[in-house]
Amino acid sequence: MGGGWAAALLFGVGMLLLAGDGAAGVGNSCFDCHTMHHSESGSTMLLISGCVGCHSHEGPETVVEMGAARIPIVYNTGGPPDAMLAGGNFHWVVTMGDQYGHNVLGVSGPDQYLATAPGGSAGCANSCHQSLALAEVHVPGGSLALDDGCQSCHGSVKHHRPERPPGTPADAETGWYRFLKAPALHGFAANKPGVGGIGVADWERHADSDHHNIYLADDGSNNPTQRSLSRFCSGCHQNFHTQVGRATPWLRHPTNYAIPDRGEFAAVIGAAYNPQVPVAKPDLYSHQSEVVEAGDQVACVSCHRAHGSPYPDMLRWDYSQMRAHQGGEAVGNGCFFCHTAKDA
Ligand code: HEC
Ligand code: HEC
Ligand code: HEC
Ligand code: HEC
Ligand code: HEC
Ligand code: HEC
Repeated sequence: MGGGWAAALLFGVGMLLLAGDGAAGVGNSCFDCHTMHHSESGSTMLLISGCVGCHSHEGPETVVEMGAARIPIVYNTGGPPDAMLAGGNFHWVVTMGDQYGHNVLGVSGPDQYLATAPGGSAGCANSCHQSLALAEVHVPGGSLALDDGCQSCHGSVKHHRPERPPGTPADAETGWYRFLKAPALHGFAANKPGVGGIGVADWERHADSDHHNIYLADDGSNNPTQRSLSRFCSGCHQNFHTQVGRATPWLRHPTNYAIPDRGEFAAVIGAAYNPQVPVAKPDLYSHQSEVVEAGDQVACVSCHRAHGSPYPDMLRWDYSQMRAHQGGEAVGNGCFFCHTAKDA
């Protein structure tokens, strides 16, 4: 493709974007992010960088200004982040070891301990279900070369999505919650919805009980319109899925499970929402009540960070400090936020 032709195309689309009513999700000059000549790995989008390049930063900041745009940083290369965003950070999987995060192509090599996603049962050798660090993956009908591993989870990337009033639930037009959708490598994935939720504008760099992301709860069904983040995680970690009812013992901690309004949990219902221990909400339109409500569910991200954390197993807090009935800094946090009778 000739540079001149591509530039003309880009400007053509630019005019449309500027003339259209949908404002671009990014607010500054095209040249800040696009190049007219050389593009990262020959991408047809003519971008100055790939996902990892734009979303990494050498300094400790996790929201970096670029003209009018603010870039959320998920990998601080020069040292730990000063305040991590909701998904955590890939810093520790590189500096501390493979247990501290997802091993993702472009950030780290394959996990040396895990040959597949724990709890995974999809099979499909050499696919994203086995590793997120492969440069070439098997897909139904062939194989595919990848530039980075980010799109194994972010399969609906739409930086130029229309702007919506704060608090509007994510949908297909806006690329779903944080662009999370199974990549359209499978026939079924193309028609499947992505993850539901409401993302807070600073990605939880400064989170408190009334300023945080809202995760959509699971509806308990097995239908393909399921949009909870926990169900999305279970796309690769199938066996860590909900156990409906209590007939079988939990394989793992109950997930997609409503916190009951009884026993030690009664004290959680009505408590201020704690962004250190998020729960998923059944109704995104009634999230205004910034407390844990009856029906709110335990989710994978109640305990884990999606990208990585300073703790083994990508946990949100230091599990080694969660000793029953010993008080200390863990009181009211981590496991004890819900298991209120086990801390002090
Ligand atoms: C802050 C960075 C940034 C800025 C500024 C930016 N873009 Fe983009 N653009 C991207 C990224 C990242 C993609 C890749 C995929 C995606 O998100 O759709 C992209 C994709 C595109 C695409 C292909 C996909 C689509 O949505 O149609 C076009 C065309 C495009 N940009 C044009 C422009 C024009 C014209 C401008 C200036 C008005 C502009 N961009 C400004 C980051 C930016
Ligand atoms: C040219 C720089 C650039 C590139 C390349 C880029 N991004 Fe972004 N990204 C941004 C900026 C700026 C924002 C914040 C503004 C916005 O949300 O559009 C952003 C936002 C995001 C968000 C948060 C969306 C939300 O709901 O707030 C995700 C997720 C994301 N990018 C993933 C990706 C992935 C995956 C890729 C590779 C396919 C990628 N980005 C490539 C600049 C970039
Ligand atoms: C295993 C799946 C997975 C992979 C791989 C992944 N992400 Fe994410 N990402 C998520 C999830 C889930 C969230 C939402 C986290 C939340 O809100 O708790 C997220 C959030 C984000 C955000 C918003 C900031 C935040 O922390 O909430 C950005 C930006 C982003 N991802 C970029 C990337 C980039 C760049 C890569 C590749 C280096 C990547 N992601 C790889 C699952 C993934
Ligand atoms: C696209 C497939 C995929 C998705 C989606 C996915 N994972 Fe994973 N996960 C993997 C693979 C592969 C591994 C094993 C290798 C590694 O750590 O990267 C893994 C490993 C893990 C580990 C162990 C980390 C370690 O290295 O010891 C945890 C914890 C985890 N995932 C949690 C989650 C959570 C929580 C989500 C949803 C936010 C999620 N995963 C979504 C593929 C996935
Ligand atoms: C109540 C907290 C909690 C919830 C909810 C939770 N986990 Fe975990 N998870 C843990 C802890 C703690 C560990 C550390 C190992 C252990 O004690 O089993 C762990 C370990 C893991 C591992 C690593 C297992 C291994 O063999 O290396 C994966 C993968 C994982 N969790 C994925 C998930 C997924 C996916 C979900 C949602 C379906 C989820 N977890 C929900 C607390 C939780
Ligand atoms: C977001 C709330 C929440 C968090 C955080 C949480 N739990 Fe739970 N936990 C629950 C609920 C709800 C149940 C199910 C209780 C019931 O229905 O009786 C449960 C059940 C359990 C059970 C009993 C499982 C069974 O087989 O019956 C154990 C053990 C447990 N949790 C340990 C932990 C540990 C350890 C942590 C921290 C790593 C933790 N929990 C964090 C809400 C939570």
